[in-house]
Amino acid sequence: MLLISKADIKKVFSMRDAIEADKTAFEMYSDGKAVAPLRTSIDVPRYKGQNLFMPAYVEGLDSTGVKIVSVFPGNASRGKPVVPATMVLLDGETGEVCSLIDGTYLTQLRTGAAAGAASDMLAREDSKAGALFGTGGQAATQLEAMLAARKLERVRVYDIDFDKAREFAARMQSELKQYGAEIVPASSPAEAVDDADIITTVTTSRNPVFNGTLVKKGCHINGVGAYTPEMQELDERLIARADKIYVDAREAALEEAGDLIIPMRKGIIDRNRITGELGEVVLGRIAGREKADEITVFKTVGFAVLDVVAAKMIYDRVLQEGLGQKVEL
Ligand SMILES: NC(=O)c1ccc[n+]([C@@H]2O[C@H](COP(=O)([O-])OP(=O)(O)OC[C@H]3O[C@@H](n4cnc5c(N)ncnc54)[C@H](O)[C@@H]3O)[C@@H](O)[C@H]2O)c1
Repeated sequence: MLLISKADIKKVFSMRDAIEADKTAFEMYSDGKAVAPLRTSIDVPRYKGQNLFMPAYVEGLDSTGVKIVSVFPGNASRGKPVVPATMVLLDGETGEVCSLIDGTYLTQLRTGAAAGAASDMLAREDSKAGALFGTGGQAATQLEAMLAARKLERVRVYDIDFDKAREFAARMQSELKQYGAEIVPASSPAEAVDDADIITTVTTSRNPVFNGTLVKKGCHINGVGAYTPEMQELDERLIARADKIYVDAREAALEEAGDLIIPMRKGIIDRNRITGELGEVVLGRIAGREKADEITVFKTVGFAVLDVVAAKMIYDRVLQEGLGQKVEL
């Protein structure tokens, strides 16, 4: 069995690789070649914690896996991560566990890459300006994915905590300097979206994070943060204006994505306004952007197929390069 750390992943798997892995995952899911049963959740009231088990089987890659993610708020006072995550990868042919992988970094990578894949397929080719909402744990890979998808000149980052946005922008300016974009903090949501060609929201907000009437025509928006029917990052006015709305998994989006469910409940859109799954675009079954002035929206709630596909590709490369740590049980 191979133990794979964040450092191992970084050596063999770039953001561009992660974007291609996610496209494969979306394609296989939409083609019925991957299954992701509902996640199992176990509450641990004694420590106000929760254990989540997210399994998936990807027939096309002969791979099965389960990501174990826990939410233990009390960990903060112990100096431990509040949301520890580990990926368990199984050999599809034998059913044996073949690898344990850092699930925190894997999640950041595949979640950034999901929006990156959508931007790659749906944003205007001549996109110049980006906007990022949220500067927490998921933000760095979201920003890198946006920069990997399009040659942007500038990205404005907004967070309700301005100091955090300023610190994040300065750190990212240095860490992602190879992309040649200017990363600047924005002092208001309106300033962030002004003239933006690509917008990504990755916050914990329960309410819309910017005014949807300010978004320019031709913009592509990725909604990443909201994952329950009550959470909403994307303004209903934006959803109403969108020419095309794509999701990662239709069923899950209709059950979990407040960004779409809330405007549906209010009668602002109906489910027919969902253009389709991103995987259907990869498969060529539905169109992506057709006109320069279309507003496109991609809403993702995330699914374990993304984890298994990325984990399998990382595992193969780490094995090939002789990296990771081999252990016998
Ligand atoms: N779609 C997926 O596959 C997927 C995967 C992982 C995480 N997520 C979700 O993404 C969200 C962000 O995750 P994280 O780990 O970065 O969280 P985090 O708590 O580390 O950071 C969230 C950031 O959002 C900021 N914020 C909150 N409200 C805001 C607002 N109105 N405007 C601007 N900024 C605001 C906070 O100040 C904070 O900096 C969470 O809701 C998480 O559950 C989704």
